[in-house]
Order: sequence, then structure tokens, then C-alpha cells
Amino acid sequence: MCGIFGVTNDPDAAQTILAGLKRLEYRGYDSWGIAVKDHLRLKLEKHVGKISLSRTHLPSSHFGVGHTRWATHGGVTQANSHPHLDCSGKLAIVHNGIVDNWATLKKELKGHHLSSQTDSEIIAHLIERELPKGDLLSACQKTFKRLQGLNAIIVFHQDYPYLVAAKSGSPLVIGVNPGNHLISSDTASLLPLTNKVIYLEDNQIAQIFPDLVKIMSLTKQSPIKPRINIINWQAKQADKGKFAHFMLKEIYEQSQIIDLLARSKLYETEQLAKRITQADQVFTVACGTAFYAALAGQYFFSRIAKRQIIPAIGSEFYYHADFLNKKSLLIALSQSGETIDTVQSIQHAQKAGCRVIGLVNVPGSTISRLSNQTLLLEAGPEKAVASTKAFLAKLAILLLTAHQLRHQPQVGQDELHQAARVVRRVLHPDHLSRIRALSRKIVSAGNIFVLGKGQSYPAALEIALKIKEISYIHAEGVPSGELKHGPIALIQKGTPCLVLAPDDETYADIISSALEVKARGAYVIGLSPRNNPVFDYWLAVPDCSHASIIPHVVVGQLLAYYLAVKKGFDPDMPRNLAKSVTVK
Ligand code: F6R
Repeated sequence: MCGIFGVTNDPDAAQTILAGLKRLEYRGYDSWGIAVKDHLRLKLEKHVGKISLSRTHLPSSHFGVGHTRWATHGGVTQANSHPHLDCSGKLAIVHNGIVDNWATLKKELKGHHLSSQTDSEIIAHLIERELPKGDLLSACQKTFKRLQGLNAIIVFHQDYPYLVAAKSGSPLVIGVNPGNHLISSDTASLLPLTNKVIYLEDNQIAQIFPDLVKIMSLTKQSPIKPRINIINWQAKQADKGKFAHFMLKEIYEQSQIIDLLARSKLYETEQLAKRITQADQVFTVACGTAFYAALAGQYFFSRIAKRQIIPAIGSEFYYHADFLNKKSLLIALSQSGETIDTVQSIQHAQKAGCRVIGLVNVPGSTISRLSNQTLLLEAGPEKAVASTKAFLAKLAILLLTAHQLRHQPQVGQDELHQAARVVRRVLHPDHLSRIRALSRKIVSAGNIFVLGKGQSYPAALEIALKIKEISYIHAEGVPSGELKHGPIALIQKGTPCLVLAPDDETYADIISSALEVKARGAYVIGLSPRNNPVFDYWLAVPDCSHASIIPHVVVGQLLAYYLAVKKGFDPDMPRNLAKSVTVK
């Protein structure tokens, strides 16, 4: 989604903003722009496409704001990219979100010259209209209160020594850097400049001076004392290091993260298990990959702890929410902690008096602030759009919690350490070259199927999602028992079918499904501890009891990665996708 980065007193504002926007690139965007103050005049630059090796041609300046745009209203054009100016050309705004009532508000702007098709530009003109009646802060305040929807804006005027930030949904983080306070859409992008941050909450407005931040409630019109949070992430954790892509780096980090969580999360998973035991009913809520982790959790809790948990997709949660009450527990899973459908599910649950526990990767994120309790995933900054290490971290915590419910945390720890060892074997060069060779064999496929059963079913869904989102090959995760109910119609000669075959209670059934697709011409790829005559291609993946799903997913992540690279796509920034989905 869109990214915002602003500085108030930097010796080279334009370059610092450009570098900040590069750190926000991973969120997904299609155009970008920067506005700075130069000799008391606003100067603007806008571009379509990626920043990559671009330079800014703006004068260095000390004060300004930049934006990466992910198009919603209006196509990907220079005119539609931000910042947007008012008619005077003295005021610039950048915006993240959607102004739901923009068409109505636009009608009030007779006589104003609008040069884009965006909902965002009207904000600049509405503020311009209010400005003669007061100062910049009050004009922004009055305007922002009229915007419907989930929005975040930064306003910059060449005649004022401060930036104004306001939000009602999308995240904004103020970087506390005495002499040069900053503003950004996310914490990680601020790390090279500061690890002290203030989270702007919904319905708050901030005046950001170089040395001072003033925050006010938009509803109560009262001042709010800013709370400074210290972030323990290192800037270098958010670097690619020696790897070609963030996704590969993040795949490599996974075994260490699993070991770390197995060692360090005993107390917190014990507490979570207690909460689960005390609750009448337990829901999990999440979107995309995080939802597949929730689904895997359902299998862990059921198979290991004989406890029922109901997983719901964030955007569908509302339709299950009639069953919530004060004795329900909601566990919200999210890497970014900002996903709007998950945030709104939490708000909904809290209205019913339900307790919420967040399993979140980004410290201080909206979900961690909203939740009654947060369990951090400790995976470090995840920059590739396709989630990998945060997924595995969620699996590790859910698996450990399921064993805590059985009062056998040691078994969970052992399974996780074993899974971490197998993940390291999967990353051995010999194994990698087998996966790379497989990617070359199936790169021209139009469809790929991933078959799983029981616990492997969520892994099949996750592998298929990774393949489709970065290689753009249509892939479908199928519970093997469902094949005959429809998907088998699509199997033709040569259709690649990945078969997840751990040597457990599901083995016989999954092999029988493999035989069925093979009989229809499929090219069968087995992920299994032992070879089987039905496999046309075998990837040896040792079992690790309930945690076998972990190395299977890692193989799938690597396959998706090599397919994307082979096809010449950037695995870190897949088309049309954004890292954190903060608009509906
Ligand atoms: C897929 C992917 C997305 C996210 C989803 C939820 O690789 O990354 O499906 O999992 O958008 O994001 P978070 O976990 O940040 O709530």
C-alpha cells in the first residue's frame, strides 16, 4: 500500500526522503513523488514506475515529504501520483487510504483547478479553502474530520515551519530525532535514523516541528502527551545483506527463528494456553498467509491437544461474530499488525467484550496496540511482499501452544528443533540444486496443483499461494480427498502436482491421490521422507512429527522463488500486491 516519508530538518531532505521511500518500496507501489521547501518555495517532483536507481532532481532543502502510491482511484499516471498541490501551489498533501465521500466533497470545490483523478487531491483543495479562516493546523483539523473512510495524511505548506499528520485508519509513525523529527508509514523505514517512535493513533492530529511534536485528539480537541517507544530492531536486519533478494534472505533466516522461538517462548505460550483453557470458545482471525497459519493451528490444536479452535478469514469474520461473547477468546495473527480486515475483526470482537491476543511480528503495530495482550513473533523485519519467516514463526508458536495445552512443552520444543535441523538440510546446496532443477522443468506450466491431507492441507494452500503470487503461475492447494469432487477435471498430461507425503497417518491416502492424478497424466512431485514409484520427481524431506509442515513449506517457498527468478520476475515485489493491506 502507499508509503509516506517526511522530514522536518534534514541537511539533505530530498535525498533522505528518497532513501526513506526506497525503504518503503517493499509495501508495493506503482508511482512516487517528493515535495520539498527550497528558498521558501515548494518544489515538486513526480514519477511513474519504480524508484530503483532513480535520483531526485530536487534541490537538497531541509524540509519535505515523499510518497509511494499504490493506485486505487485513477490510473497509474504522473498526474495521479502524490504529492498533490492546492491551487496556490504552496500546499502539498500525501495521502494513504480512500476518502469514501470524495465525490460529494468534490462538488464543493467549484472554481478550484483539479489536475488528477484521485480522491486524494480534493484534500489539498479543501484545506486551501479553510486556510484563510485560521492556521494550517486548524484548516487540516476541520478538513480531516470531514473525510469518511480510513485515511492518513501529511500536509506541508511552504509558509509553515511544521508538518501536519492526521489519521483515522492507515498507520503513521513519528520518528523522534531531536532537531529533525520524522514521519513515516512504518517503523522499519525509520530505523537508520532513529529507534524512538511515537505511534499516532486513530483520530489524532500531530504538528511535527524539528524539535517538538504536539498531538491533539480530533474528537475531544484536547492535547495528548506523546508516548515514546523504543524499537529493538537493528537497521541492518532490514538490509538484504549478501542475498539477491529479501525473500531468499528471509527464507534462510527461518531455521534460526524456529530455534529461537522454541527456546524463548515457553512462558508466553504457557500463558496463551491458559487463556485458551479458560475461554468458552476460541477463534483465530487473519488474512492470506497468516490465515493459513491459523488453519494449521486448527489442526495442531485438534490433533495434539484435542481442542477446537475456529479459524476465520479477516474479511469474513463479521459473519461469524454473532457467536462472540465475554467468555470468547480471539487470537489475531498478523505479520504487519496493520491488516485492515484483521484490525476491524478485533474491534468487532472487543465490542462483544471478547478478549483479544495478538500474534504479531511488528512491535507497536496497530494490532499489538489494540490487543489485550501481544505475543511477538520475533522474526525481525520482513521486507519481501510474500510472507515467509513470519508464517513459520506463527506455526512455531501455535505448535508450542498446542503442546502446552497437553502439558508437554518439551515435546513441542523437540519437534521445532528437529524442524529447524531439517530446514537447514533443505537449504543444503545439493537440495537447492534439486529444487532449482525442478523449477526449470515446470516453469512453463499453466497450472500447478499442491495436494495435502490433514495437517499438510494448510501447507498445500500456503505453497500454492507463494507460487501464484510471485511466479504468476496459477496454483491451487487441494485437500487430496477433494480431488474427485472437481479439481481433477483440470489434470492433463504434464500438469505438475506437488504431493505432500509425510510418513504419517495421511501417507496411504495421499499416495492413492497421487496415483489418481498420475493416471490422468500428471507430473507427480513427491515431498516425502522416502521415495515412492508414483513420484516422477522426489524431493527428500525428512519427517518431524507434527512439525513436518515446516520444511514442506520451506521447499515450496524455494520452488516459488526459483520459478519467479527463472521467469525474470522480482520475487520481492510482485505485481499488484502490497506488503501491508491497510485499505478495504
Ligand atoms: C502472502 C502474504 C499475504 C499476507 C496477508 C496478511 O505472501 O504475505 O497474504 O499474509 O496480507 O498480512 P499480515 O500478516 O501482515 O496481516
